[in-house]
Amino acid sequence: MKILLVSSSARGHAIAEALSKSNENPEIISLLPSSNPGIESIASEVHEGDVMNFDLALELAKRHKFDFAVVGPDDPIGAGIADVLKEVVPCVAPTKNLARIESSKGFARKLLLEEGVDASPKFSVFTRANRELLNNFIAQDLNGEYVVKYDALKGGKGVKISGEHLSSINEGVTYANECINECGQVVVEEKLVGVEFSLISFVSGNNVIDTPVVQDHKRAYAGDTGPNTGGMGTYSDANHSLPFLSKEDLDRAHKINVLTAKALEKKCGAPFIGFLYGGFIAVKDGVKLIEYNARLGDPEALNILPLLTSDFVHICQGMITGELSENMVSFAPKATVCKYITPEGYPDNKNQRGEIFKLPPIPSNARVYYGDVKQNNNGELLLGGSRSVGIVGIGESISEAEDIAQNICEKVEGPVRFRSDIGKEELVNQRVTTLKQIRS
Ligand code: AMP
Ligand code: GLY
Repeated sequence: MKILLVSSSARGHAIAEALSKSNENPEIISLLPSSNPGIESIASEVHEGDVMNFDLALELAKRHKFDFAVVGPDDPIGAGIADVLKEVVPCVAPTKNLARIESSKGFARKLLLEEGVDASPKFSVFTRANRELLNNFIAQDLNGEYVVKYDALKGGKGVKISGEHLSSINEGVTYANECINECGQVVVEEKLVGVEFSLISFVSGNNVIDTPVVQDHKRAYAGDTGPNTGGMGTYSDANHSLPFLSKEDLDRAHKINVLTAKALEKKCGAPFIGFLYGGFIAVKDGVKLIEYNARLGDPEALNILPLLTSDFVHICQGMITGELSENMVSFAPKATVCKYITPEGYPDNKNQRGEIFKLPPIPSNARVYYGDVKQNNNGELLLGGSRSVGIVGIGESISEAEDIAQNICEKVEGPVRFRSDIGKEELVNQRVTTLKQIRS
């Protein structure tokens, strides 16, 4: 069996590892934008190249007889890599039309509205044609508590929130107009108050099978302060829920993923195949959707994939053929905590790029996934500008998993940092208390 993996980063490393554990013993051939020591240690061939140049992927696909392809990042999925490859090889990734659930926040909100999926905050989509209504909507309908969302992929940097990035109604209107000028459309919505979580499902049309729920931490510094990042770390619990969520919350998030997969198939006339990642928020009166992604999360994949006790290759094949079933998907009843090691100056300055850092020995109850790092000829690890290595502890409880990850992170040598607070009992309890207060 031969698999094409279009992905770099720690998420790509985790995908490669999960595929390589299959009983099918697949040969993995990887197309990635820059070298990755983790993927290189698993793949039988690695091709460095622009993943947005689909001719490269197509040429590889024509040269090898791949059984299927798996795609990691949002940009090639959003631009339609699955459409280009599908003549030659089936893809575990939705086509461009279906991937609009991530690449256009306006499409996602309108789809849910049209299909009666009650999961969105109050929202409106503005274009050049109705931009004069912006001020009124923000001031009157949303009482000045608003979020402005650039309506295209922007590497997680298109969302601005009142009280955080925007300090007046005027600033909101100005940013919304900038978005319209740049990409033609903007989503403005009610600012929700609650606790966020990620629920990623393996999806094949109407077949929606959940993975363990994860909580991500996007802010750079402890206590959820500082600028937003790609995600500094994550945790998941042994029961595959999270301590602050009720069974009703989890059931509701699952239901929203199910209804959305169904709505997508109806709207686009083709099944969604791949990973449907709901970014949810537990609020006063239930669960709302913050956004959808059409891929595995990073770091979420680093929590989820090492827990798989069933065969990931069979799951991927099941998504493609439509034969995916509950009994093909099982996860170890363990908790995980992932902490990203990043350069000291991440995300603002890239001054540590090229500097050497060193990992301690990794015990069997932990995993290391390589992100933006290089290896020199002496085998030493060099920092890039972005997140370096995801360290994942796996234990019976969140605090045991945290302890494992924290111990490793503390021993990493070099000009690096990480968030100590992620997965700590104090932080997890705080989430529980926050949601209790919101709901009381
Ligand atoms: P997104 O790119 O849509 O995931 O947004 C990035 C971050 O902005 C989310 O993780 C949330 O923390 C925040 N956010 C987005 N939409 C809302 C909303 N309607 N209310 C409150 N926070 C939001
Ligand atoms: N964990 C955030 C993301 O993958 O978008």
